[in-house]
Amino acid sequence: MLKTIKDFELKGKRVFIRVDFNVPLEGDKIVDDTRILASLPTINYAVQSQAKVIICSHLGRPKGKKVPEYSLKPVYEYLKKLLKTRVEFLEEISDEALSHACKELKEGEVLLLENVRFYPGETRNDPEFAAVLGKNVDVFINDAFSVSHRAHASVVGVPALVKEKGIGFQMEKELKYLSKVVSKPERPFFAVVGGSKVSTKIGVLKNLISKLDKLIIGGAMANTFLAAQGYPVGASFVEREYIEVAKKVIKEGREEGVKIYLPVDVVVEREGSVEEVGIKDVREKDVIYDIGSRSVEFFSDAISGAKTVVWNGPLGYFEKAPFHRGTVFIARKIAALNATTVAGGGDTLAAIKLAAVESAFSYVSTAGGAFLEYLEGKELPGIAVLKS
Ligand code: 3PG
Repeated sequence: MLKTIKDFELKGKRVFIRVDFNVPLEGDKIVDDTRILASLPTINYAVQSQAKVIICSHLGRPKGKKVPEYSLKPVYEYLKKLLKTRVEFLEEISDEALSHACKELKEGEVLLLENVRFYPGETRNDPEFAAVLGKNVDVFINDAFSVSHRAHASVVGVPALVKEKGIGFQMEKELKYLSKVVSKPERPFFAVVGGSKVSTKIGVLKNLISKLDKLIIGGAMANTFLAAQGYPVGASFVEREYIEVAKKVIKEGREEGVKIYLPVDVVVEREGSVEEVGIKDVREKDVIYDIGSRSVEFFSDAISGAKTVVWNGPLGYFEKAPFHRGTVFIARKIAALNATTVAGGGDTLAAIKLAAVESAFSYVSTAGGAFLEYLEGKELPGIAVLKS
């Protein structure tokens, strides 16, 4: 059983909260603060409980080097405005500097560490680096589901050293919805899977196929499925080496009684113009960029009546108009259902924002890789370590 932050007496304790402040930046400007806001309830709870709060995060993939563009300083400036307490920033994560900063930290105050991935020991889960991070920790809280698939020092190494450990409110919410989808979905249970590659979704499809009632496939990965069914896909993106895998998914789905929906028409770029064509009519030089309007209708009808829907991956090249239409329409359709609706993945989140329906979903995960690994049925190392 996982403990939550509420299970611990925090007053006067040094509470290390692993968050995911891996937010998009343009210079010093935070382009999307969703992940910062998501961890505020946990941070505020620790502050109000008079803990000495140490916040740790990564930003980007600086590969163990101090890369100024990946500094958490802009996040620090932002956090100072959001929190009603003194917030300090620790630029150098060393035994001496961290021990000193923790000694100075008073009850109800916050210390934000610089990007933990500036140190090679983080991604290697180096025991020495984990010992530096964990030396001044009484309670470890993981509030970063989105990085819990990484066996890194701040995710796995530190909690392995600490007796009192658990999850924050954001992680609790994430697990509530995702575990419902993976273990006890209310039926009918449908999955909408898109994005470009079958290869990145195959684990999810394999794990979910026996639990699903319907599987709706869109995005460029649908091209591989269409090719597997013998349809022409022209010059569209196809993973030829996954055609056999796609055939297997269709076969397994049939055996399990899962209805699989593929596009019946598509939007293509043909000699510089945009056309909507039936799936049999894709020409050699056509490039498929979206599902067509008949597919939108077909998928919409298929989705109605769902009690649980999980969605990962856009249904077309939604970043470029007019190829956003299929994705936006289906996003709105899912959002309007009277069902538990869970979506996740970076692109999916962006598509939901484009469709302006984020608040209508039961839960939108900010996680990418971790969301997929959880749906694949894998135990995430950052969560497993909290049970020990
Ligand atoms: C994410 O953006 O999915 C998380 O912050 C994890 O980042 P990573 O893929 O660089 O580990």
